[in-house]
Amino acid sequence: MKRTLGVCYYPEHWPEDQWAEDAARMVATGLTWVRIGEFAWSRMEPAPGQLTWNWLDRAIAVLGDAGLKVVLGTPTATPPRWMLEKYPDMLAVDAQGNPRKFGSRRHYDFSHAGYRDECRRIARLMGERYGKTPHVAAWQIDNEYDCHETTLSYSSAARRGFQDWLAQRYQSTDALNRAWGNVFWSMDYDSFDQIDLPNLTVTEPNPAHVLAFRRYSSDQVAAFNRVQAVELRHHTAAPLIHNYMGRTTAFDHWQVGADLDVASWDSYPIGFLSDRIESIAKEKQTFLRQGHPDMQAFHHDLYRAVGKGRLWVMEQQPGPVNWAPYNPAPLPGMARLWAWEAFAHGAEAVCYFRWRQAPFAQEQMHAGLLRPDSAPAPALAEARQVADEIAGLPDVGTAPAQAALVFDYVSAWGWDTQPQGADFDMFRLAFAAYRALRRAGLNIDIVAPDCADLSAYQLVLAPGLMTLSDTLRGALAAFKGIALIGPRSDTKTGELAIPTPLGPDLPDTDISVVLTESLPPSDKIKLAGGGRFRHWFEHLEGTADVHLATKAGQPAIMGGDHIRYLAGWPDDATFDAIIGGLCDTLDLPTLGLPDGLRIRDTATHRFVFNYAPKAQQWNDTIIPAAGVHWEELK
Ligand code: GAL
Repeated sequence: MKRTLGVCYYPEHWPEDQWAEDAARMVATGLTWVRIGEFAWSRMEPAPGQLTWNWLDRAIAVLGDAGLKVVLGTPTATPPRWMLEKYPDMLAVDAQGNPRKFGSRRHYDFSHAGYRDECRRIARLMGERYGKTPHVAAWQIDNEYDCHETTLSYSSAARRGFQDWLAQRYQSTDALNRAWGNVFWSMDYDSFDQIDLPNLTVTEPNPAHVLAFRRYSSDQVAAFNRVQAVELRHHTAAPLIHNYMGRTTAFDHWQVGADLDVASWDSYPIGFLSDRIESIAKEKQTFLRQGHPDMQAFHHDLYRAVGKGRLWVMEQQPGPVNWAPYNPAPLPGMARLWAWEAFAHGAEAVCYFRWRQAPFAQEQMHAGLLRPDSAPAPALAEARQVADEIAGLPDVGTAPAQAALVFDYVSAWGWDTQPQGADFDMFRLAFAAYRALRRAGLNIDIVAPDCADLSAYQLVLAPGLMTLSDTLRGALAAFKGIALIGPRSDTKTGELAIPTPLGPDLPDTDISVVLTESLPPSDKIKLAGGGRFRHWFEHLEGTADVHLATKAGQPAIMGGDHIRYLAGWPDDATFDAIIGGLCDTLDLPTLGLPDGLRIRDTATHRFVFNYAPKAQQWNDTIIPAAGVHWEELK
């Protein structure tokens, strides 16, 4: 399959006589895809039931006739103002009880049945009108679920929905009281309508109550998405896509992904480095204009799996964004490098956000491929270069991975609810493990927590997995490589209680976590032979072998030949040493890549990316700052 490029475009923002020229320039840039429509509800239906498709018909025709394929978005992230007259209670409510008002976007509550019906209706109308239009070759449903932290809402619709959901899950309040441990502090209920949402309590609510609400809220996102997917599938055979975000764990992406054909995500490497990654000041300085060298790869690997093998980047940063604390411009070359990194990880398409910088409204300081005056912005030439390079390179395919990382959203909610240490965060822990695998030069797959077959991998990491599913436990029992489980894995029930006998319950491995410590940033646990744990340390007991101990003689890694448990959160150098040691045992070659140099193998080629702000040597090749190099695999 050939890799393709595209761009996000808003015909409703520009005079109609500009569309044809824009389309011709997109084609001349070598773009294949143009995504439109996802915020245009007020122009599709300016008043209830008054449908004005003509402009959209013409926009699709102009773009399609120029040779572009259209990705058509359903506009449900931006309900028009009249919707609020109809449903004044459709706004989400924040944890303080305040409505999140009209005047930006995503002003809706996932639990609101009336709004969900409106979304079903607009999806049906769009499907009827464009489902068979040949130019419409893919669909995007809504836009970035959870953007602006919109998954949780403390509204009355959510309260009613939550009560019904609880009644279905637990069947009786007795069962719920038992499952949550409501005897503690006399929190027992005797009817489901007594159960409120877990906000505005005097002190922390019962963690089981919070986790249930997180599960409920995630289910609403999946249900909201499913309503539109079902509707569109009646009318179109084109792939259905959602554009997920970076570092967002508020809903279960595996569940949403199951209803769609492709997982895409929106990649803003420099914005993310500035406001979405804990990293040391030096790293933030070194990668200021490139983004973190592992952040894009992590999400490519995650969403390739969420998309069951089909991955896109729906929005790719082209220049400075407007929304991070600081918004520097990318180093020349990065708009090219990011695209190639996505392709090397299996992306079918990379679409830049956006075609022309808007001179008005919230994102006027956000760069595009064109400046507001239509002159080329720096990324335009880089997109052109990528298009030429794609044309010259055979299909590189995707290569199998040697290592897998298990990633679970329910665990993220569990640990948000009960961090136990101020800086414990599921993404942060998983990302630390991922980065170590990547520094070792391995190809990595991210797999779901109900993964049934690990036989393709030699090394498996499962950090922070609140509970181990029986399916995964079965896959581990049959696993012939080395699986490193932990820290903080399989030590809770699905209700966020402590199981007895104590976890983890690992196949053929007798280990228990008997005491847990979280550590302030100033503290560490030293390991025998060098290295240290930070943030987190678990005291282990059991009859399994000790493979690594702390300096004080406590187990740090215990287990058998195939299944081992990691008792703490290693710092980066220690993670490198641990992964290096396991790879040696497995005879798996590693690379130990220098700062900012990263590789990804495809079926035919090895790609080397230089995220560093200076040239670096790779074998006999000098790769310039922000450079990409590829070579055929022998
Ligand atoms: C994304 C969003 C786009 C745009 C972009 C700006 O989160 O999907 O609509 O706002 O960010 O970087």
